[in-house]
Amino acid sequence: VLAYLNGSFLPRSSATVSVEDRGFIFGDGVYEVWRAVNGRLFQSDRHIARLVHGLGELRIALPDSLHSSRLGPIADRLLGESGLTDGEATLYVEVTRGAAPRTHQFPTNPTAPTVYMTVNSFKPADELRARGAAAITTPDIRWMRCDIKSIQLLPNVLAKQAAVEKGAIDALMIRNGMVTEGSHANFMGVIDGVIRTHPTNHLILPGITRTVVFEIAAGLGIPVVDEAIAEDEIEDLDEAFLTGTTTDVMPIVRVNDRPISNGTPGPITTRLVTEFRAYLDAACGAAHATS
Ligand code: PDD
Repeated sequence: VLAYLNGSFLPRSSATVSVEDRGFIFGDGVYEVWRAVNGRLFQSDRHIARLVHGLGELRIALPDSLHSSRLGPIADRLLGESGLTDGEATLYVEVTRGAAPRTHQFPTNPTAPTVYMTVNSFKPADELRARGAAAITTPDIRWMRCDIKSIQLLPNVLAKQAAVEKGAIDALMIRNGMVTEGSHANFMGVIDGVIRTHPTNHLILPGITRTVVFEIAAGLGIPVVDEAIAEDEIEDLDEAFLTGTTTDVMPIVRVNDRPISNGTPGPITTRLVTEFRAYLDAACGAAHATS
């Protein structure tokens, strides 16, 4: 597998960064994950825009390689030389404030950001999707800027690990009695034919799959309400699902070992699963091209 690091292409196994990198020392950076199907990046500009937002909030200058005119060709080469232009893959991009002697404040000497990109093959969890997945709940112990896709993911790591240890796909994080999101996906519920999910603010990542699902729902005439679901409303949901770049639309049929409705994927969720896949395939159908 090929990687891109600070302007060079090299085998990922040879890509190394300094131990003084502020990503390593402080988690001082942001990342982004794209889906690629048949060599084509899905929703490329929205992922770039979110990365630009995060870099702006961290006051890290936008590296040239992240402009869409540069990122597309870099992604093409990574996917192409890694043999990932047919079928499913992901593109990972991480930018940190760079390597400098350890001080909490930003380095005073000019420091180039570290820019790392790589690709991975990917297998959607379609068998689980057909059955529906289980989730647990866990306290949301994250900071107050969850809109920034920070590389500091310790609460997400611990939440996901707790889920895996219970045989669940993910943990729904609870802040002040309300579900915010999963460890790496947004959460939505369906009540009386209406989709409900946490509003976009500093408490969740504004998921790109979430936005696409909103657009699909609008096209199907399914109303969406930006209103958080309380933890004690979970058991009353008619349907529930997660959305994310590596999750697509994933039905959640059990939470903390209690079934949602009859414990099988509901009709609205099932419709969204199908429509999302069709949308993804339509957007990425043409092989060997990057938008
Ligand atoms: N995670 N919420 C969180 C906390 C996330 O980390 C992610 C994405 C999402 C879904 O966003 P999107 O639909 O844009 O992928 C929501 C990526 C995939 C990851 O960390 O691997």
